[in-house]
Amino acid sequence: MRTVICGSKSEIGKLAGKILCDYVKANPKAVLGFATGASPIPAYDSIVEEYKKGGVSFKEVVTFNLDEYSGLAREHKNSYYSFMQENLFSKIDVRPENINFLNGSAENWASECERYSKAIRDAGGIDIQILGIGHNGHIGFNEPGETFSGDAYRVKLTDSTIAANSVYFEDSLMPRYALTMGTKQIMECRHIILIATGEGKAEAVRAMINGKVTPMCPASVLQNHDNVDVFLDEDAAGLTDLG
Ligand code: PGA
Repeated sequence: MRTVICGSKSEIGKLAGKILCDYVKANPKAVLGFATGASPIPAYDSIVEEYKKGGVSFKEVVTFNLDEYSGLAREHKNSYYSFMQENLFSKIDVRPENINFLNGSAENWASECERYSKAIRDAGGIDIQILGIGHNGHIGFNEPGETFSGDAYRVKLTDSTIAANSVYFEDSLMPRYALTMGTKQIMECRHIILIATGEGKAEAVRAMINGKVTPMCPASVLQNHDNVDVFLDEDAAGLTDLG
């Protein structure tokens, strides 16, 4: 893992956004993996800024998102589809037909997950995947457990994740299940950019970087990936051995 400690969220956003934009400039048909949550927003802002300057086009890219709440329609304001529209997709020239999402409304989630895993394979895999990390070390919605997961699947969210995300659900109950890309699929992405900020992430970041590789901290598996950039602020890096 290459780790960079930055002075601010906006500095992280600029560095992470630049990696992604530079890749798309050189590879206009890139397959991009996106994540939701507060962590990637500054990166999305910097991507939009570069797009508005005319520096990059997303017309040919194909996108896949990591996860989606199960039981939530994509039109719901708290769906991850809505999040991506609001924070990135509506602001750049990505084609709607090139945007791929797990369908949270699918009643047969097993076949929906199979469809999604096949779509990723058919696209040739993901070139760059943006990731956050949960307070419990999750990546995507791969929660701590006995084993690392494989392809996309339906997961029961842990109390820690429900507590962290329920702040976004003022007027309706937060879903208890989600569909997510599995850990194996995340490991198959050719380049991973993980962003973590704030003291609340410090223990998960320590376990990811300095702990042993264990499914009890799903992000620790990234120690076995040879092309990961981790962007941290000083608070998130506070418990690591990084100087
Ligand atoms: P956050 O979520 O960016 O909102 O902190 C990250 C995650 O849970 O993966």
